[in-house]
Amino acid sequence: MTGALIRPATRADLDALVALEAGFAEEDRFDRRTWRRLLGGRTGALVHESGGQIDASAVLLFRQGSDIARLYSIAVAAGARGTGLGARLLSACEDAARQHSARALRLEVRVTNKSAHRLYETAGYRVIAALESYYPDGEAAHRMEKVLIAPSDGAT
Ligand SMILES: CC(C)(COP(=O)(O)OP(=O)(O)OC[C@H]1O[C@@H](n2cnc3c(N)ncnc32)[C@H](O)[C@@H]1OP(=O)(O)O)[C@@H](O)C(=O)NCCC(=O)NCCS
Repeated sequence: MTGALIRPATRADLDALVALEAGFAEEDRFDRRTWRRLLGGRTGALVHESGGQIDASAVLLFRQGSDIARLYSIAVAAGARGTGLGARLLSACEDAARQHSARALRLEVRVTNKSAHRLYETAGYRVIAALESYYPDGEAAHRMEKVLIAPSDGAT
């Protein structure tokens, strides 16, 4: 695709990031203040830009002293879904987590979010915990994980 790229998000993307999630339920999107904080902290926000428009975003959290990175959010614009963009962005997140020396990437997903489950399962994530009443509306979550760096097999 001409003029399409995945790149780190910057503060200049704030309006576009808020707009991307505008159609989501309030509890499934970040408000402007949260986005501003996420763009300034120990995060790795990525965006997909196509023809000058941002049509997907993802946020990674890194905690000091932890080698487990967290995928805090991933979103693809409604009109761009089902074309592999989510999978490409997820793969870019894994690369970014590896660059931060993370050995695994974890995330939480609503148990009813079938498209997200499919995305993660296809990419090699497995459910490591079921979290009852995880979301403000009482819905349960699955915590999923993918190990990013294979343990040494001892070969010399
Ligand atoms: C989840 C989401 C990021 C997927 O993005 P996407 O660009 O549509 O995903 P892809 O096109 O890369 O598809 C990845 C896999 O999910 C599947 N998929 C995509 N949309 C689907 C749908 N509506 N129903 C079922 N499966 C779906 C694809 O078939 C693909 O699986 P495959 O490779 O085995 O065929 C996107 O639907 C989204 O932004 N949803 C709203 C926000 C959200 O729920 N984020 C996740 C929070 S944990």
